Amino acid sequence: MDFIDLKSQYRALRPEINARIQAVLEHGQYILGPEVGELEQKLAKWVGSAHCVSVASGTDALLIALMALGIGPGDEVITSPFTFVATAEVIALVGAKPVFVDVEPDTANINAGLIEEAITPRTKAIIPVSLYGQPADMDQISAIAARHGDIAVIEDAAQSFGASYNGRRSGALSAIGCTSFFPSKPLGCYGDGGAIFTDDPALAKAFTELRVHGQSARYYHTRIGIGGRMDTIQCAVLLAKLPRFDWEVQRRIELGARYAERIRASGAPVGLLTVRPDRNSVWAQYTVLVNDRDGVQERLKQAGIPTAVHYPRPLNRQPAYEKLVDEKSLPVSDQLAGQVMSLPMSADLTEAQQDQVVEALARAVR
Ligand SMILES: Cc1ncc(COP(=O)(O)O)c(C=O)c1O
Repeated sequence: MDFIDLKSQYRALRPEINARIQAVLEHGQYILGPEVGELEQKLAKWVGSAHCVSVASGTDALLIALMALGIGPGDEVITSPFTFVATAEVIALVGAKPVFVDVEPDTANINAGLIEEAITPRTKAIIPVSLYGQPADMDQISAIAARHGDIAVIEDAAQSFGASYNGRRSGALSAIGCTSFFPSKPLGCYGDGGAIFTDDPALAKAFTELRVHGQSARYYHTRIGIGGRMDTIQCAVLLAKLPRFDWEVQRRIELGARYAERIRASGAPVGLLTVRPDRNSVWAQYTVLVNDRDGVQERLKQAGIPTAVHYPRPLNRQPAYEKLVDEKSLPVSDQLAGQVMSLPMSADLTEAQQDQVVEALARAVR
């Protein structure tokens, strides 16, 4: 069994994907070809945002967002310590200071109730991460930011593209939303890719310039930018995948609910994460909590079930970051880092495969 089954998806879409890639090979506009704009328009509409700017990766999406806001040395950006490193990396790369706020034990998303006490006059942005596919408390976080004046909220929606929150889509839940099209993400291309969403035309213009070396006209550089465009071929792959994506989102939601129901029914001592009633999760990772994780992973491996750990070490405890930050111990993140384990998940996981995973898990934890 694959941890993430990308082959079944390709087989289901083979003619469309091949034709889209072939079209790019024929027209030869590999950089900023027509598929790029077509994808951006379709994604903006799908997400419910006025603008979508495609970029080279989820990391570049976050980096460009911070650059557009002019965040740099002397500024602080609040985020979660329990995320993929890119979320904090971009803060450090622009010269600002990451300020980590602990997460909720039942969702693993940033605890909005702890954000206010971390705000200082230097706080310029908050980057909540919609971890594992479930949006963070975006409305509450945007309300906190608004109460404190000029603080931008950037959703790191790398794992939650396709999820909804109070009827709105992840990526369009705050002033700026950033996502990733890394192959294993809910909407994945066949290489690196990402996108930034906003309703603000001035920010959209800044993102568009920043991704092409800050260029506002050919060889005229208004800003200091990066080489951060998404390849035309990757946009073509996503265009071929979009018609199936609604079904995939629905399937991920169903499989997540079915995992929870089956694991509960097995009576196995496995902790489950909560999905809040006002939102759903697209389960980029289907993550559970177990004791003796190394042993459980090993027994599952012997049973042919691949697992992964997202993430084994909170960022405030990473060698590159611990010197930058004040937070030494964030107890909920520490606890989760010791227990989280992700199970095989993708829209093409079959119910028979899922039952096999749950049976093996129940045996492995006993
Ligand atoms: C939460 C989070 N943020 C940012 C990223 C970075 O995305 P990318 O790998 O496309 O640069 C990822 C993806 O791995 C992620 O999971």
